[in-house]
Amino acid sequence: MNQATTPNQMFEYWQQKLVPIGQEHVLTFWPALTEAQRIDLISDLQQLPSPAAIHELVQQNVIKCEPPRIEMDKLQPAPYYPASPGIDQAGLYADAVKLGVRLIQEGKVAALCVAGGQGTRLGFSGPKGVFPISPVENKPLFQLFAEYIRGTELRYGTGPIHWFIMTSPANDMETRQFFAKEKFFGLRSSQVRFFTQGVMPAFSPDGKILLADRNHLALSPDGHGGTLLALRRTGSLEEMAEAGIEQISYFQVDNPLVHCIDPLFIGLHAMKKSQMSSKMLEKVDDFERVGNFTMIDGKVMVVEYSDLPKELAVTRNPDGSRKFNAGSIAIHMISRQFVEDLTADEARFKLPWHRAHKKVPCINVNSRELVEPSEPNAIKLETFIFDAIPMAQNPLILQTLREEEFSPVKNATGADSVDTSRRDQSSRAARWLEQAGVKVPRKPGGEPDATIEISPLFAVDAEQLREKLRTMPEIKPGMQVYIK
Ligand code: UD1
Repeated sequence: MNQATTPNQMFEYWQQKLVPIGQEHVLTFWPALTEAQRIDLISDLQQLPSPAAIHELVQQNVIKCEPPRIEMDKLQPAPYYPASPGIDQAGLYADAVKLGVRLIQEGKVAALCVAGGQGTRLGFSGPKGVFPISPVENKPLFQLFAEYIRGTELRYGTGPIHWFIMTSPANDMETRQFFAKEKFFGLRSSQVRFFTQGVMPAFSPDGKILLADRNHLALSPDGHGGTLLALRRTGSLEEMAEAGIEQISYFQVDNPLVHCIDPLFIGLHAMKKSQMSSKMLEKVDDFERVGNFTMIDGKVMVVEYSDLPKELAVTRNPDGSRKFNAGSIAIHMISRQFVEDLTADEARFKLPWHRAHKKVPCINVNSRELVEPSEPNAIKLETFIFDAIPMAQNPLILQTLREEEFSPVKNATGADSVDTSRRDQSSRAARWLEQAGVKVPRKPGGEPDATIEISPLFAVDAEQLREKLRTMPEIKPGMQVYIK
């Protein structure tokens, strides 16, 4: 539609598209909208997939509600590389670290953080990366990652490591403004590239697109599986190719302990010619809310916690250990070429849609009233990045340790909350210090009796801390300690 298009022409244009797929109700309020409001509605409509795609989605994923087609009786646990190598693997791991460092130094690795989610469970309205989380300095998540990236550059003497951050239309502006205000936390603005993911409307159970208000559709991000197409559509893939980037180190915005750039993981992934690799850890209990690494017909796939049948979740091996014990923590290495190949023909690239029944405030187009549902009233559709693993050649899984690399902030209280994440950051810092020979006071229960934070600009892992710590800090019970 060009600028000379009149409101009437716009209305007719969209009506022609929406009537055949039974979605014309979204234009109900058009006659009463101001010009600005009409532009809002048009701009929401323009973000939708094509009418044919919407129609297909509704038929196959909203109106029909088939559980995922996984032949559960064929599921086996997926094999993985252990966190610490056995004697026969020590050489492989040492070579992998060397290769990983070389690839980082050659500028072939970029970091990618998915930060388009809505953070509803945390009850924080801004972009989650802005949330202050470090135990002493209260640094926001984005700052911790920025400093990890800068710390890696300093450690290996590299040029700027590119960092791609996926936002959603709802938080893109605020995310960019935050980085600008904070002067990119010492990184160059040119090394940080924001790209925005796609959106999906919420549907009523009978397949109608919901209106958030009279001039807006009820849109939400299309899931982190949207990363792959968003990389192509925003030109980020091309930029990566131009910059010589071959490998993408993918992580979620909610985990302050993540090793954003990990030479061992990068090296193993590259050495084994894996197109998509993953980190796993042992689950804390049968029903921990993490995806499960499994194998089916020789393919590795992640089965989400909500999809793993209870009988399988509780199955034990003959030695009593949990059979499906490998939890996914959404840390991946992805080869750029893999994303290029997958998305080369957008029409043929499909990840499965996962549906969730959610409460979505919306306008009832008949009564024209705003509905604030007390029960789930809407179907939301998302794709998940880990559904690309079965399409990858040589997918590899590397174990990591929870205390070293995973303590996400997802909830306001309880498990995976602000408190547990701060506690775990401090505990990890305490362990790193002890490994470097520092005495850390501990409470009778074993927890450190001090709150400790280590700046990633000083050390990104225990080994670097050991190498760099010249004077041993004296830590007294109850102290707040910041090593920088
Ligand atoms: C996710 C994984 C789960 C894994 C766990 C580890 C899914 C479905 N499950 O659970 O397997 O064990 O993390 O912490 O992802 N995001 C976007 N755009 C979106 C949706 C999400 O960028 O459209 C980002 C979020 O900003 C966040 C991450 O993806 O960084 C995870 O999203 P979230 O919905 O919180 O996943 P979980 O259910 O916690």
